[in-house]
Amino acid sequence: MESDASCKSATLRTNLYATLDQVKAGRRVVIERHAAPMAALIPMTDYWELIMRRARQHRPKEEFMPTQRLVIANASGGEGKSTVARELAYSLALLGYKVALFDLDPQASLTKALGLHDDPASPARTEEATVGRVFSRDEPPPLPEPMQVHGVDVWPANDSLNSVDNVLNNDFARAANLREALDAYLSGMAEPYDFVILDTKPQRTNFLTASVAAADHLLVPVSGIKGLENLDVLLKLVKVARGIAPSLTLRAFIPNRIRENVDHHKELLHHLQTDLSRLAPVTSNVRDSLATMGGATQQRLPAVLYKPKAKVSEDIVAMTHNVLKILGVKVPA
Ligand SMILES: Nc1ncnc2c1ncn2[C@@H]1O[C@H](COP(=O)(O)OP(=O)(O)OP(=O)(O)O)[C@@H](O)[C@H]1O
Ligand SMILES: [Mg+2]
Repeated sequence: MESDASCKSATLRTNLYATLDQVKAGRRVVIERHAAPMAALIPMTDYWELIMRRARQHRPKEEFMPTQRLVIANASGGEGKSTVARELAYSLALLGYKVALFDLDPQASLTKALGLHDDPASPARTEEATVGRVFSRDEPPPLPEPMQVHGVDVWPANDSLNSVDNVLNNDFARAANLREALDAYLSGMAEPYDFVILDTKPQRTNFLTASVAAADHLLVPVSGIKGLENLDVLLKLVKVARGIAPSLTLRAFIPNRIRENVDHHKELLHHLQTDLSRLAPVTSNVRDSLATMGGATQQRLPAVLYKPKAKVSEDIVAMTHNVLKILGVKVPA
């Protein structure tokens, strides 16, 4: 790791932009006054990590909680899977939970939204960084080490994951490999994750089955009636995945990108709360907010870090609390 730079407080004003450029490039700059360190400028990703570590230290330790494994899936495209996975992960981390985030979609929207593909030389663009390798043998090889992004451990995706379906189409028995590799990874951790969140691809393929089967709880984001059209396809896939993960359960629908005054969204919410309530409860809505979501993606940040006071971020926090309640996890004060 590069050593920290230093800057005298008296010259900070004249060197401010050059100093900030150093910080933006990942360097920490110690500000010295009378030759003694008095403050430091640190990259934002270090800042978020500190905030989350502090939240972890302050979170009252309830009784032992096994890692909660959540998969976000919907066999329709564009319903907000990657957005919900990202926002849920970071709002749980802000509550003081230790969180892992897996991108299991070769499209890699989640990985890209976190900025991990911006550098052409980023390890996130290599096959070795993805979970792909766990399917390469009958006995799953260990998961690679994650990348740290703003205090959350991330397993990135890239288009090399397209080959997973070829492997699984020839040998479906390996669909259990991701779950087994995750079991092994978690059991080897001194301080296991509180939450593992898996983002999935929309196409109903064997890789999606393997991804869903790596979790115990299924959350389904829905942003329109179209998002429910393939629900039967998803439920059939869950039945198959239960061969690998017997306790896998549909735990909640998450209405996302909702405009409450629009008729078809009113219909959607009504349908979820009546006809579909026998399948799973519905969380509070996450509103449609192009400005905040678009800005967050552009800044390579989750909305809850980019604009924590925006209404949509408040919706995400409320939805996160709902999910905790549904899972029976005591919400930290
Ligand atoms: N609450 C929201 N407000 C505004 N825009 C949103 C919201 N949720 C998601 N979006 C936007 O909608 C688009 C689709 O969202 P996202 O990529 O999360 O869906 P997805 O289900 O993961 O898609 P895919 O099936 O392609 O993986 C993205 O451009 C995202 O920024
Ligand atoms: Mg996605």
